[in-house]
Amino acid sequence: MTFKQDIIDALTLAYPQILTFENLASELMASQERVVQSVTELQEQNYPISTQGRDIHLAYPLLSVPAILKQLETDFIGKPVQLHARLDSTNSYAKENLTDLINGEIILAHEQTAGKGRLGRNWTSPAGASISLSLVLKSDIPFERIPLLTQLTAASLVKALDAWADVKIKWPNDIILNNKKIAGVLVETEFSGRSLKGIVIGIGINTNVDQMDIPEDLQSKATSIREEKAGEIDPNKLVARFLKHFENFYVAFLGSQHTEPFLSICREQSVLIGKDYWIIDKEQKRKASIRTIDPTGGLVVTYHDTNKTEVITSTDLSIRGEHTYV
Ligand code: BTN
Repeated sequence: MTFKQDIIDALTLAYPQILTFENLASELMASQERVVQSVTELQEQNYPISTQGRDIHLAYPLLSVPAILKQLETDFIGKPVQLHARLDSTNSYAKENLTDLINGEIILAHEQTAGKGRLGRNWTSPAGASISLSLVLKSDIPFERIPLLTQLTAASLVKALDAWADVKIKWPNDIILNNKKIAGVLVETEFSGRSLKGIVIGIGINTNVDQMDIPEDLQSKATSIREEKAGEIDPNKLVARFLKHFENFYVAFLGSQHTEPFLSICREQSVLIGKDYWIIDKEQKRKASIRTIDPTGGLVVTYHDTNKTEVITSTDLSIRGEHTYV
């Protein structure tokens, strides 16, 4: 991918400027034939590159390490950044290569061929139209506090996305725009015997995904930022903003055990709190009023059948409206 990624980097850094094949070839110190050949291959793989005669430009900016680094203001989160053209899953890659990855390192991919969602679901990440990111953490976090990382990540996404839209959170891990899902979080752990080898925080964001590329069964539930006309997204700015907010929350969480800075955002932006929903697990479906998110990150609900208030900590369940997703 490196030469093709060099082309993507040059076009992204120049965006929205239109370049010529001559410009590109001289900038990359390559022959025009080589540039034309690689651009054609990228177009065949559905990257949004437009060409007209000698001119070439992107329909929208693509992921690019130099473009992220230009905007990155963190101490250790997002350092270093790996960007791959295509992986089965950035989370699987991070877990398989955990020994060689350092605390804070991130893995990005333009495309995933076997992206994983929560509850064993698939996650679709078409080439160049979405962000697939996995962040590696190697700090010692007590096992019972790991679920809080999903809430910390969700709040970081809300803050990062507020440059474009007022997004909401559907506990535990869905990011919602206009009542449809635009992003999700999947936190995975890797153990060596009984000791924690590392934590992988996976996030998938539908930035420029076309409605027709969303699987049919998800059409009513999922969308992308572009489909919702929330303005043009620069994925590099979004990644840099996300990493900065994540680091701020994470340092306070590790150092002083502060959870309120991010849990308060999860409560304020919750689509569930104050409403009634069906809580569905493998065995049963129960109606509940959603009260709040408690300091452990659990969802506090009052079940209608027993009138008892309980804290849901398991994320092995679905939450649905009467006939709706949100
Ligand atoms: C969900 O909402 O169900 C979670 C979706 C998480 C998707 C991301 S994309 C990057 C990372 N790699 C994966 O295979 N999954 C996560």
